[in-house]
Amino acid sequence: MILLVVGAGYVGLVTGTCLAEMGHQVICLDIDERKVEQLKNGIIPIYEPGLEEMVKRNLKAKRLSFTTNYAASVQAALVCFLAVETPETPEGGANLHCIKTAAASIAEHMNGYKVIVNKSTVPVGTAKEVKTIVKEILKKRNAPYDFDVISNPEFLKEGAAVNDFMKPERVIIGADNTEAAAIMKEIYSPFMLTYERLIITDIASAEMIKYAANAMLATRISFMNELSRICEENGADINEVRKGIGSDKRIGINFLYPGVGYGGSCLPKDIKALRAQSRVLGVDTPLLDAVDLVNHTQIIHFFTKISTYYQEKGLRDKTFAIWGLAFKPDTDDMRAAPSITIIQELLNQGAKLRLYDPVAMDAARKVLLPHDHLAWCHNEYEAAAQSDGIILLTEWKQFRFLDFAAILKSMKGNAFFDGRNQYNPHQMKVKGFDYLSVGRTPVYSHQDLPEDLIQRYKESEI
Ligand SMILES: NC(=O)c1ccc[n+]([C@@H]2O[C@H](COP(=O)([O-])OP(=O)(O)OC[C@H]3O[C@@H](n4cnc5c(N)ncnc54)[C@H](O)[C@@H]3O)[C@@H](O)[C@H]2O)c1
Repeated sequence: MILLVVGAGYVGLVTGTCLAEMGHQVICLDIDERKVEQLKNGIIPIYEPGLEEMVKRNLKAKRLSFTTNYAASVQAALVCFLAVETPETPEGGANLHCIKTAAASIAEHMNGYKVIVNKSTVPVGTAKEVKTIVKEILKKRNAPYDFDVISNPEFLKEGAAVNDFMKPERVIIGADNTEAAAIMKEIYSPFMLTYERLIITDIASAEMIKYAANAMLATRISFMNELSRICEENGADINEVRKGIGSDKRIGINFLYPGVGYGGSCLPKDIKALRAQSRVLGVDTPLLDAVDLVNHTQIIHFFTKISTYYQEKGLRDKTFAIWGLAFKPDTDDMRAAPSITIIQELLNQGAKLRLYDPVAMDAARKVLLPHDHLAWCHNEYEAAAQSDGIILLTEWKQFRFLDFAAILKSMKGNAFFDGRNQYNPHQMKVKGFDYLSVGRTPVYSHQDLPEDLIQRYKESEI
């Protein structure tokens, strides 16, 4: 059975490569000729740990190939996965242009029965739309081939995508007939050897499951961000609160981190798309509206923390190191990264910025317009040199243990704005920083620590 994956981006490339790794014969198709040329030569256009070796290995074994040719690849394949982008429309809905175009291209070249699989995140009802598009084109072509449309949403996390795909927590298959579901079951069977994680359901529920999962994840983040703002005022420590509530099995410890708000290519647009579809259906979504609003205001709240710190002299001509640009660690994805908003706000106020990210520098250069006040640095130390303050926006592991004495010595000021709560506030104060984080009381280098805290600090290195 030959599998075609349409769209060789973060999801399509990982899907195609992992399916090939499991022994399937896979063709990855993209309309981006440059990308396809690079991939044919084993050059990976994105940063995703573990992917490059896997692509090279499967290219060499001839289980994986790349093309721009719809006719030949559709005709060769039995199953066509759609993994194209579904970005946000100006009204906040899901833009299905690429899905529809790709589905139409498949229909134009079908030469027999095919299974068309929606792997992209698409609103409930999209499989039906795809079915209609394909049917109409086949009718025009006078080519009465049979086909099925399946919903198979993807749950991989960028930065851990290969592992997530190879060891899925679940695989959702939305199907309206058992034969097509059986084909999907066979494709995923090598991933289910340890135990069965395939959930076969109806198409609408499968489409909804993806949005429901992202809505739940976004809700947890906004919930923690809202709590963090309360903690900043009442003296509680959000990290302690996180551990306290996370130990309750009904709540769980994962995905409870406060920060500068969620970003990336999924959560922001998917929450908006679910809200947009609900509006069309006449369903109010006060909870999802609040999740979105809290996320939007969280980055502004963090910016206000910085501007308030400098309220006497203002931000004009202040220099900041920005540590981390990608929306999260282990990826170069800059889509809807909170760093973009912070950088723009700081530039608007006349600040000068020294940027550094371990892997997202090239991607960031494409997103941030050239500006006299932006300097691109080679590492976190270079970025911090001569700065008034450091702003940490992405929790890259390499930022965890650094020579803070050397860093502080090279700086003009001593402010540290930590959007990801990477350090212990009291340790940072002892090291000489004014340290402002999320949901925790700020500490200032000139402040005396309360005696009991000094004692606890000495005893436990908290
Ligand atoms: N990125 C993630 O972490 C993630 C996780 C789960 C689900 N998703 C969903 O998966 C889908 C794809 O996301 P992505 O991040 O991989 O997008 P992406 O932008 O990285 O990749 C999409 C690719 O599709 C190609 N493409 C567009 N139209 C095409 C067409 N007509 N024919 C062939 N190729 C075409 C583009 O050139 C691009 O290479 C989206 O719906 C997204 O919401 C993404």
